[in-house]
Amino acid sequence: MPYPNFIQMSEEDLYAIVAYIRTLKPIENEVGEKELDFPVNYIVKTLPLNSYKPHKAPEKTDMKAYGKYLVTIASCNDCHTQSKDGEPIAGMEYAGGSSIDLPFGTIRSANITPDVETGIGAWTKEQFIQRFKSMATDQVKNMEVQPGSFNTIMPWTMYGGMTEEDLGAMYEYLQSLKPVKNMVVKFTPAKTKM
Ligand code: HEC
Repeated sequence: MPYPNFIQMSEEDLYAIVAYIRTLKPIENEVGEKELDFPVNYIVKTLPLNSYKPHKAPEKTDMKAYGKYLVTIASCNDCHTQSKDGEPIAGMEYAGGSSIDLPFGTIRSANITPDVETGIGAWTKEQFIQRFKSMATDQVKNMEVQPGSFNTIMPWTMYGGMTEEDLGAMYEYLQSLKPVKNMVVKFTPAKTKM
């Protein structure tokens, strides 16, 4: 649960989430006590949960600041910044390369710093917005993925629901970051059993 990111949310956005959750249909489902593995059980205790200070989101006209706000509360760093022992690796912010092994293969997060060769430095704003929007269609959402073929944990279909204005602001912020050279092979298919 990315609390350190969510704690950056404006008071208004938090209220909007509460209002939305209250519209959900109540479902009875007893959930067991939480059990956290090491080191998350310790990290959780150090989170500044009681220190939320109500604040406003940056103005949308301040594209970079607003984009930073969105990238933060959307927790892009959770996947796009490599971490060690629960701490982000300094100098590798948004440079990708975190890997997750899944039944169909190993997926690694992309470098989304503005490095031209290994990141998204050569992408135009239109390309960036289009990439998200093209993934928000029903066709993509219901796509069947064959074993061993490319699949991703990037929540494209969800972020694709963001407005073009918001996606554009995230682009502006990401392009303002320091380019980091880090070549990532995004996907290695699992060896299929003979
Ligand atoms: C749950 C993990 C996860 C989260 C959260 C996540 N990403 Fe990703 N993202 C990935 C992975 C894995 C890839 C590589 C595979 C792919 O292209 O889908 C990726 C790919 C991308 C790409 C394509 C880059 C390229 O070179 O093709 C962009 C752009 C991107 N992410 C931006 C973002 C932004 C912006 C956010 C936050 C709003 C975000 N991601 C949040 C996992 C994540």
